[in-house]
This record gives sequence, structure tokens and C-alpha cells, in this order.
Amino acid sequence: MFQNLLIDYNGRIQHIIINRQSKLNALNKATLAELHTAIYDAFHNDRVGGIIITGAGEKAFVAGADISEFASFDSIKGEQLARNGQNLVFNQIENGNKPVIAAINGFALGGGLELALACHIRIASENAKMGLPEVGLGLIPGYGGTQRLAQLVGKGKALEIILTADMVTAHEALQIGLVNHVVSQQDLLARAEEIMSRILLRAPLAIEAAITAVNASMQTGADGYETEIENFAKCFNTDDFKEGVTAFLEKRKPHFKAE
Ligand code: COA
Repeated sequence: MFQNLLIDYNGRIQHIIINRQSKLNALNKATLAELHTAIYDAFHNDRVGGIIITGAGEKAFVAGADISEFASFDSIKGEQLARNGQNLVFNQIENGNKPVIAAINGFALGGGLELALACHIRIASENAKMGLPEVGLGLIPGYGGTQRLAQLVGKGKALEIILTADMVTAHEALQIGLVNHVVSQQDLLARAEEIMSRILLRAPLAIEAAITAVNASMQTGADGYETEIENFAKCFNTDDFKEGVTAFLEKRKPHFKAE
């Protein structure tokens, strides 16, 4: 089992709780490796419909990559750190076949905010504080933050957040579109589950196709419109499409099987 994660289930929703509270859930190598495994397993487990990622405790979602682990790195090791992390965890989440919601329950800094940015939807508690403080350490974000933040809030705001290294509050994050909703800490997981439950009523293969098509809108070199056409077409060959349309015509609720 995992040393740095807690796994919990509520029906078809899997919770992944990053559990290094004494280090504000900072992402060390071991935690990133476990995250990769946990997410891989969830994406390949038919009983899981969607994933909610949060941090243990009430103070932090994730306070960044573990600074103590890379303090003595040179540029070769730095490149490996960023490349492996992006491939194994951050891109894995973004390109996943199931929806992933970040429930940001406190500090989401550096790699912590980048983790939330890789998720498909972000919900924050009122006490959450978000930022990319890397330039204060003589670095820049390396887990996709320069790209995903700019995609989400626009280049101007992203540059302000990255260059000042200042934290934004949950309400500021809501205003600029960095998070989808802000709720009290006690309502955070319930709100994330409520949104996920609504997604899980829909056709799973269509959800996967929609994630793929929307992601293509942000990928350099990808033809997003073509990706949309291909994924739209693919849906017609699914049983879920037949069930969805039949249920509509028969005025009943659909029963999707991800087939
Ligand atoms: N990497 C490694 N350890 C971290 C960490 C990180 N990113 N963030 C927090 N910790 C550790 C602290 O070193 C401390 O450990 P210790 O008790 O063994 O000394 C523990 O978590 C608690 O953090 P502390 O700084 O004492 O809490 P605080 O309430 O005073 O401050 C923060 C909270 C989030 C403002 C502060 O921890 C911080 O600035 N963290 C680093 C954020 C960052 O730069 N992240 C980007 C990394 S690329």
C-alpha cells in the first residue's frame, strides 16, 4: 500500500488524499511515484468513474515540490525532475480517460498548484492560497505551470502571478477563472463529490472523448477541430450512444455501461 497517500471510495468516486501533513503535503519523489501508480490504477479500474485529489489536514493541498530533494541539483538533474514529473503525473492526469477534480483545501503552491492545474476542474476552500513561488527560489515552474496557468487565466495574469511569486486568495482565484468554485472548508469534499456525481450520470466514453477534444484545443501542433470530429464520430459506435438516444426518445433515464 501507499506510504504518502490515502485512498478512499464513495461509490464510483475515488479519493486520493496526499498525506504528508508534517511537510504540508509537499511532493517528494516517493509521493509522485505513488501518485502515478494510484492514478494509473484508478484510470484502469472499471469500478472507478472519477477521481478527487485533495490534501490531508486543513492547512495545505500541496505546498509544492519537496524543496529539500532538489536543493543540490544541477541542470541535468533538474531537467530529469521536470520531464519525469510532467510525463508520469501531470500529463497523465490531464490526458486521463476519467475526470479528475482538485479539491484545494489550503496552500496550493508551486508543484501543488501545478497538480491542481493538471486536473480537469478545481474547487477551492475559502482558506486556500495559490501561487507559483519558484522565482523566489531562483527557479521557474517545471511541472507545466507556465503553460497551464497561462491557458487558464490568460498570459497577462499568469505572468503577474509567476513573476511576483505572490499568492492569490481563493476569491481572487475565482475571479480570474483559476478555480471553478469556492466553498467553505467543511463543504469542500461534498461540493467536489456533487459535481463529480453529475458527471458520472453521463456517458463515460463521451466524457473521455470530451476531455480529449478539449485538451486538443491547448496542444501545440494538434488540430483541435479535427480531434473533435474524430472523437464525435467515435461516439456513434458506442452502445452508450444508442442507450442515450433511445432513453431520450423513450423519455426515461439512460443506463450507461461505458461500452
Ligand atoms: N518542500 C519541502 N518542505 C516543505 C515545503 C516544500 N515545498 N513546504 C513546506 N515544507 C515543510 C517545512 O519545511 C516545514 O518542515 P519542518 O517542520 O520540518 O521545518 C513544514 O513543511 C511546515 O512548513 P512551515 O514553513 O513551517 O509552515 P508555515 O505555516 O510557516 O508556512 C508556507 C507555510 C506554505 C508559506 C511555507 O511552508 C512555504 O513557503 N513553503 C514552500 C512553498 C514553495 O516555495 N513551494 C514551491 C516549491 S518549488
